[in-house]
Amino acid sequence: MLFSLLLFLFALPVSSQLDEVYFSGFKDVTSQNLTLNGIAEIQRDGILRLTNETSRLMGHAFHPSLFRFKNSSSGKAFSFSTSFALAIVPEYPKLGGHGMAFTIATSKDLKGALPSQYLGLLNSSDVGNFSNHLFAVEFDTVQDFEFGDKNDNHVGIDINSLVSNASETAGYYTDDSGSNRQDLNLKGGKSILVWVDYDAVSNLVSVTLSSSSTKPRKPILSFPVDLSPILQDEMYVGFSASTGLLASSHYLMGWSFKINGQPKSLDLSSLPQLPGPKKKPISLIVGVSVPVILIGLSAIVVGVYLFRKIKNADIIESWELEIGPHRYSYQELKKATRGFKDKELLGQGGFGRVYKGTLPGSRTEVAVKRVSHESKQGLREFVSEIASIGRLRHRNLVQLLGWCRRRGDLLLVYDYMANGSLDKYLFDEPENVLAWEQRFKIIKGVASGLLYLHEGYEQVVIHRDVKASNVLLDCELNGRLGDFGLARLYDHGSDPQTTHVVGTLGYLAPEQTRTGKATTSSDVFAFGAFMLEVVCGRRPIEQGGGSDGVVLVDWVYGFFNRGEIVEAKDENLGMGREYREEEVELVLKLGLLCSNSEASRRPRMRQVVQYLNGDVALPDMSSLSLSSCSGLRLGHRQDHHDSAMSYPSSMDGSCSHTSSVAESLLSGGR
Ligand SMILES: *[C@@H]1O[C@H](CO)[C@@H](O)[C@H](O)[C@H]1NC(C)=O
Ligand SMILES: *[C@@H]1O[C@H](CO)[C@@H](O)[C@H](O)[C@H]1NC(C)=O
Ligand SMILES: *[C@@H]1O[C@H](CO)[C@@H](O)[C@H](O)[C@H]1NC(C)=O
Ligand SMILES: *[C@@H]1O[C@H](CO)[C@@H](O)[C@H](O)[C@H]1NC(C)=O
Ligand SMILES: *[C@@H]1O[C@H](CO)[C@@H](O)[C@H](O)[C@H]1NC(C)=O
Ligand SMILES: *[C@@H]1O[C@H](CO)[C@@H](O)[C@H](O)[C@H]1NC(C)=O
Repeated sequence: MLFSLLLFLFALPVSSQLDEVYFSGFKDVTSQNLTLNGIAEIQRDGILRLTNETSRLMGHAFHPSLFRFKNSSSGKAFSFSTSFALAIVPEYPKLGGHGMAFTIATSKDLKGALPSQYLGLLNSSDVGNFSNHLFAVEFDTVQDFEFGDKNDNHVGIDINSLVSNASETAGYYTDDSGSNRQDLNLKGGKSILVWVDYDAVSNLVSVTLSSSSTKPRKPILSFPVDLSPILQDEMYVGFSASTGLLASSHYLMGWSFKINGQPKSLDLSSLPQLPGPKKKPISLIVGVSVPVILIGLSAIVVGVYLFRKIKNADIIESWELEIGPHRYSYQELKKATRGFKDKELLGQGGFGRVYKGTLPGSRTEVAVKRVSHESKQGLREFVSEIASIGRLRHRNLVQLLGWCRRRGDLLLVYDYMANGSLDKYLFDEPENVLAWEQRFKIIKGVASGLLYLHEGYEQVVIHRDVKASNVLLDCELNGRLGDFGLARLYDHGSDPQTTHVVGTLGYLAPEQTRTGKATTSSDVFAFGAFMLEVVCGRRPIEQGGGSDGVVLVDWVYGFFNRGEIVEAKDENLGMGREYREEEVELVLKLGLLCSNSEASRRPRMRQVVQYLNGDVALPDMSSLSLSSCSGLRLGHRQDHHDSAMSYPSSMDGSCSHTSSVAESLLSGGR
């Protein structure tokens, strides 16, 4: 008796637990209890704004109470249904940034989560981890290749990750059979009504969208899953949104939610409405009493001002608005770099000067590269190329954030990499020796970035200038490949009569110096040189004591031939520092394989990644001979400078008939 009374007492708070939410607009007092963080805010008109148009921020709005999502005795998740009205207004028409999500989570503040592609839900280290206990339905307006997004206007069901379990272009079916489909534009600024239903009997999540208050019969997206292992007994429910480089305002007009039942329905016409697009009033101020002469004078002043402004303006043409990454204004970048001050100069290389900057507004740190581009012709091609490069996204690539052009100048804006370029650590700062573990991580990272360029994108992107000085280290010392695809951009602007060999001596595959043509296997060759460089702590071609340079491949091959390849490693490794002999051996041997002078015998990047991950064993190396990996020898006698240099046409070795190879452009990415 006493026992059952106790049981009753314990059961009491559970049975009285809240299982329903209803907000038709967020004006009433109960809305004040919603837990908001980040930049989320309830506006005076009763609209809940999760983010505004400031870049790289996030906003969360959660119901303050925990909801019981599971039968604690059986461990089975309950059914639930929710419906909400959202609207997304991007800063620039057609360019979203980034998206929002209905969220069931273990906390209300989602601590540690990141904005941009992480939608304020997760971060790079916990994405995909089963212990997240996160369920979300995302409304994503940017296509992220890292997470395999299908386009920049999709709805997705996300479980513990931002790689959606199922996703679909936003839209709805106008009939029951699903043969008539109507697309919806998420970032069109109009209210969209959404229903998310989880049926615990059939184990099915379904998502339905509409531009009206009537729920279409057939959901646009469903995914069979039992949420019991994903949800915990008690969870928080709410919304998350984030902005990226580009920003949108993400709004919620109403929200209704219920566990084990149908939530109250929302009626779009009774929800608060977003104000229509702002129309700038054209005001004519006519000062009748002002003397005519004054008007005339000011007209001249204004005229001169406007003329200068137009002359200097970077006029935006319509095609420039259609394409991917952000287009910055010159003023913005000038301000960010404090007028391209020398003090902000990070480096200088074949492509131009690189400045550090801080974007006004978002305080985001960026690197701004200033390239002068003389030829007016091909500008459009140039810019569309940037657009396609800007859409490449991978954790081991330095992200191109946007660009700006102004007369002959082209400014490229990149993520700022706190730890600078890798070569500095390898050669210039003996006090900052990288441990083997870090080197191996960097090599593997750069390999996966390069594989992505070769195979992961809709078109093959050849890097053309893989080398230690083009690998930048982020704050966690992850290696990120920079300057990708830029070399090809340069080709567009160059004179078609001369063949420019783009790359850096020591990393250039022999066939590349012959034909001037870069391929994925010439990238593999350069990656081979890069691996040897990182393990040995030596440049591909080093000035020796005498007049001859030491060619790293030959040098490593010497050790290989004597059966002691591991001894070629950086002498700073091993002096009391841990290193794993089998990994060092693997990377050095792989470096030799990639340095094969015959392009067809080099592995492909996909294989390189498999070897590095230990998924596949290295092939037999016993037939490897010096002649097969001596591609570097032709650069042997040349003086090596780290800046742009030219190839004299009389090179020794078998590849000397290369008079068309006039010069090697572009070296030294710094
Ligand atoms: C808001 O939360 C407080 C504390 O949980 C509660 O006492 C109050 O009744 C709530 N107000 C409304 C309007 O729900
Ligand atoms: C966005 O909100 C933040 C914080 O509320 C504010 O500092 C910022 O100025 C706002 N940005 C815009 C563009 O309104
Ligand atoms: C929870 O599960 C138990 C056993 O399966 C069942 O008897 C009970 O009715 C369930 N409770 C609820 C609230 O569904
Ligand atoms: C990622 O988020 C988790 C919490 O979900 C946090 O513990 C962790 O520190 C975060 N990681 C980073 C790198 O911010
Ligand atoms: C997942 O997260 C848990 C707890 O945060 C952590 O212990 C575990 O190592 C993570 N698993 C992976 C694969 O990252
Ligand atoms: C999909 O959902 C399951 C949970 O049922 C999860 O384990 C899996 O990794 C998810 N991700 C993808 C991409 O399918």
